[in-house]
Formats: sequence, C-alpha cells, structure tokens
Amino acid sequence: MRKETSEILTTLGSTWKTAPDIGQSRPITTSESIEPRLYGRDGIMKNIIHDITQGKYYGENLTVLPIVGLGGIGKTTLAQHIYHNQEVQKHFEVMIWKCVSLNFNVNKLMEDVENHVPKVQDEKNGTAEELIGQRIKSKRFLLVLDDMWEFSDEDEWKRLLLPFKKSQVKGNIIIVTTRSPKLGEMVKTTHHPIELEGIDREEFKRLFLAFVFGDEQPTLDHTVLLETGYKIMDKLKGSPLAAKTVGRLLRHDLDLDHWTRVLESKEWESQRGSNDIMPALKLSYDCLPFDLQQCFSYCALFPQDYKFDSKELILFWIGQDVLHSGDQNNLTVEDIGLRNIRDLVSHGFFKKDETEGRAGYTIHDLLHDLASKVTSHECLNVHLSSKTLGKIRPSIRHLSITLDI
Ligand SMILES: Nc1ncnc2c1ncn2[C@@H]1O[C@H](COP(=O)(O)OP(=O)(O)O)[C@@H](O)[C@H]1O
Ligand SMILES: [Mg+2]
Repeated sequence: MRKETSEILTTLGSTWKTAPDIGQSRPITTSESIEPRLYGRDGIMKNIIHDITQGKYYGENLTVLPIVGLGGIGKTTLAQHIYHNQEVQKHFEVMIWKCVSLNFNVNKLMEDVENHVPKVQDEKNGTAEELIGQRIKSKRFLLVLDDMWEFSDEDEWKRLLLPFKKSQVKGNIIIVTTRSPKLGEMVKTTHHPIELEGIDREEFKRLFLAFVFGDEQPTLDHTVLLETGYKIMDKLKGSPLAAKTVGRLLRHDLDLDHWTRVLESKEWESQRGSNDIMPALKLSYDCLPFDLQQCFSYCALFPQDYKFDSKELILFWIGQDVLHSGDQNNLTVEDIGLRNIRDLVSHGFFKKDETEGRAGYTIHDLLHDLASKVTSHECLNVHLSSKTLGKIRPSIRHLSITLDI
C-alpha cells in the first residue's frame, strides 16, 4: 500500500516527499517567525516577562506556565514576542523553542530538545534525557512547547519533566501554549494558566486597520467604507487570525460594493458558538481567485504545521496541474508558482518563515483545517500514528501518509 502510494505521489511531482521524509522535516512554528507588531498584548506580556525574570517564578526551581486560548487568538505570537524580548534573552542562558503539534511523542521531543541544548565540556555519553540533565545542570533555561494537544497519559509528561528538574539553578521556565484548557490545568505549576482572550475593541480596531491599510492610515475618503468595515470587524470576535484573512480580503478591493458583499455574506450565519472564526476564514477563502483556492486547498495533503519550501510547493502544484498563466503568456510556470505563493502570503493564508537559514512558508493550523474541509471529498492526509483510520471515501483521488519517526 505504502509503495503504491509513493508511486502515485511520485507521478504527481518529482520532488514530492514520501511520508518518512515529511516526518523528518516537520518544523513548524519557530521562535523567529514573528509578526512586525504586537497589538493588544502589552499588559499581559509585561506581566509575564516580569514574573519569569524577577517576579514570583524567579525563586522557583521549575515553573510550567500554560498559555491557553482558541486557535488563532495569538498564543504562538505572544510566546514568540516573549521569547525575543531582550530582557528575556539576557536572563536565560539556554533557550529552546519546540513546536509540538498534533502528535506528542516524548522520546522524539526529548531528542529534539537535546539537539538544541548546547553541549558542555566533559559530558558523558548517555540517553537524550541524561544529556539534557548534564547540560542544563548549572544553567537557567526557558523552554517553549508551542501548540501542545494531548498526551496519552500523565506519566509521559512527568517523564519529559524529569531531566529539567535536575537544574541546580533557580528560575527555570517552561511555557506551554495549547488550545486545551484541560491540558493547561494538567501541566501548570502556577495558580492558573494564562487564558488568552480576544483583543480589546480599541486595539483590535488598530490591528484590523493595519491588516487592511498596511502602513498607510485610512483617509477621509474612506469614511463611508469604514462604516461597513467596522460592522465586519465586529463579526471577527477579537481574533487576530480572522482579522488578518478578512482584513487582507478587504484590502484587495477598497470598494464599497465588495465590502458590502462581505458584510452580507450568508457564510456568517454558519457561525457555531460565539467564538467561531471558521466562517470568517471560509469567507476569505471563497473570495480568493480560483487558482489560488486550488493551490491553497491542495496543501491539505501536507501534514499540519509543515514548513513548505517554495521549490517543492511549485513542483507539487505543477504535478496537480493547478498553475495557469491566465493572460500573461510570457510567464514561466515557475514564475506563476512564485506569484501564487506571494499572493497567498499577501492574503494571509501563508506565513513567511525565514528561520534556520531556510526560507519557507507555514499555514496556520485552523487554515490547514479549512483546506482539509474544502478538499475532503478528494484529498486525505493519513497520520499513521492515529489509532483509527476512518473509511476512505470512494471519491478520494489524492492520499498522503505521514509517519512520525
Ligand atoms: N497580538 C497580535 N498582534 C498582531 N497580530 C497578531 C497578534 N496575535 C496574532 N496575530 C496574527 O494572527 C495570526 C495567528 O496567531 P497565532 O499566534 O498563530 O494564533 P494561535 O497560536 O493562538 O493559534 C498570526 O500569524 C499573526 O499574524
Ligand atoms: Mg499557535
């Protein structure tokens, strides 16, 4: 089965990676892919930085501080800004950022972390656990575990913590970001997890306008447009991710008819619960040009949190036959691929990530969910670590398999 799948995938694009390759090159959100400005989080950020560098957690041996909130609310972004803050960088001798994502595997995580902790002189060979223990013994560390979902039992988590408890220095911190309040409660050593909510209206307005107008300020000519704009903004529930995709959608056409169509779209009616931002994302997707929709939605075949390389993405799109020149006959198919990548970044569907000496692109997990949803009739990404494999619909034409190795 796997061999056949590999053969099918090979015919789709010459550098399409087979599952083990994808499993190996899975990073992910990184500490460096930060947005230019952080809106509405000054207070909370100042408090956290104070608490971890000189306040209540400074005297503790090890503090686990969960940041809990809905997808797209800004957990990763906040953690990235904390991680890059100068005071924080000066305070901790060892800093590690790890995107955990869907499949928590304590052994793999431990090995990854070990690879990122600087070696010490005269260290003795041993397991990843022992090496981490030796290396952080006399150093204050900050470990960020971004986007944790669940683990099979509490013992797994305890096992992960063991080497970190060996540090003889005080003030060590593990920040965990998660959508799951239950997980936050379980891992916390603080009184409460930090619960991240939607951004306050005034700051949210600034954020929304920044996504719509960029560095420019709206002018008097935009007054009527903005009346509609603010009504749309109120549907975004203070969610920065929704503000980004809808804001960019409005930015591409500063026209009252377009904005009114967005405001009056039937899609808003499918909002489930008061914090559901999926309709906002779906609406932004529906308004993309058809070829961008295709390019984006086939990315559902890559695993969640995958970091795309522009070359492999373009070859993948060529394999899917989704790159078309339109009127511009002078463009090569690679040029069109690059243009589509740029457009998907500008629409807020891809995020540029230039870390680890390699430029790439990531898709937010909620947007990946959206891609999976809109292609569910023909595309399927199977995680071999999942306990159950549901029925494969007869209409599935594209199958990708992800292994965690
Ligand atoms: N406070 C903020 N100011 C500006 N943009 C933000 C802020 N928080 C999040 N964003 C934007 O929203 C997107 C989604 O946020 P992210 O931190 O990935 O959410 P989460 O980790 O909670 O799912 C980010 O890529 C970023 O563009
Ligand atoms: Mg996140």
